[in-house]
Amino acid sequence: DKGGWSSFMAKEVSEEPEAVANTLRGRIRDGVVSIPELDGLDDLFAGINRIIVIACGTAAYAGMVGKYALEQWARVPVDVELAHEFRYRDPVIGSDTLVVSISQSGETMDTLMAVKYAREAGAKTVSICNTQGATIPRESDAIVYTHAGPEVAVASTKAFVAQITALYLLALHVGGVRGTLTPTEIAQHVLEIEAVPEKIQRILDRSQEHIEQFAGWMADTRSVLFLGRHVGYPIALEGALKLKEISYIHAEGFAAGELKHGPIALIEPGQPVFVIVPSPRESPVLHSKVVSNIQEIRARGARVIAVAEEGDAAVLPFADEVLHIPVAAPLVEPLLAVVPLHIFAMGLATAKGLDVDQPRNLAKSVTVE
Ligand code: BG6
Repeated sequence: DKGGWSSFMAKEVSEEPEAVANTLRGRIRDGVVSIPELDGLDDLFAGINRIIVIACGTAAYAGMVGKYALEQWARVPVDVELAHEFRYRDPVIGSDTLVVSISQSGETMDTLMAVKYAREAGAKTVSICNTQGATIPRESDAIVYTHAGPEVAVASTKAFVAQITALYLLALHVGGVRGTLTPTEIAQHVLEIEAVPEKIQRILDRSQEHIEQFAGWMADTRSVLFLGRHVGYPIALEGALKLKEISYIHAEGFAAGELKHGPIALIEPGQPVFVIVPSPRESPVLHSKVVSNIQEIRARGARVIAVAEEGDAAVLPFADEVLHIPVAAPLVEPLLAVVPLHIFAMGLATAKGLDVDQPRNLAKSVTVE
């Protein structure tokens, strides 16, 4: 039931605030992260030397965002691998490796086979999944469910923000167990994450209409590039994936620092480029790097669409369009920056008259390898 929305995707984007809130619910008590599903695993978390995150598609980009939090907060080295690549390359894993799988459906065959492979190789597995009782969680040692609610549109939106939320909870939990975070630090991060649903809602209330209108003006565009740094990089990849999936436009995401090593050759007058801009206050160094990237592409004629913090005056002179997001801590920012990109992809596909829920050639859950 679309509940009055024009598509399931529109409904699911509108549910992004709840998806985050519901994934947090019952897992935070007085500023302390407590995930009942992970009870009894303290020795495991204390003993691991490495985490490998395996997933496909959007879930893999959520995993890339989670890597920053797991490394920064829990101080465990993290690799993020596409499940189908992981399994066929004889990876080095053992009992000191924790494999974290991420899957909305819990049925993706590539991810399932990678989890089985990891278990057989002696690794412990935690699955982050949105579907109760699905196959992947049943094959895992522990499960952290995302509570985004059923996702019907093929292109994942609310599950993506819920997956990042679950990974952040996991990172805080493991950081607490390993003693790499103090209770005060955990409480501070928890406060920042708890503010996310209201901030996403603010983007939807203040900007959705404008972003959809803007996307409509770009309906004839043939190629869109997305740039980001740090946690903005996986968000750039996600923005590009969403656009290709539902609007069939060529779209590519790049790490902004990689520009001069190749992608800048693609910039010609009029080329639209979305740039995820880090917070000037929270991440001044990254912010100034990204602003110089914007200047470089602007000098070559790119049409710059900046996703930037409210009040960021530094991007204004160089951007053709600014999509604002509320102020947030650096690791929280991706949960906000992705929202305008989801709205944009949906707005553009809708303007082209396409079926946003059922894009051609794609299936919601791919149960073959
Ligand atoms: C793809 C879907 O086939 O599978 C993507 O079209 C999704 O939207 C990917 O991100 C992974 O799916 P799941 O269910 O494992 O998260």
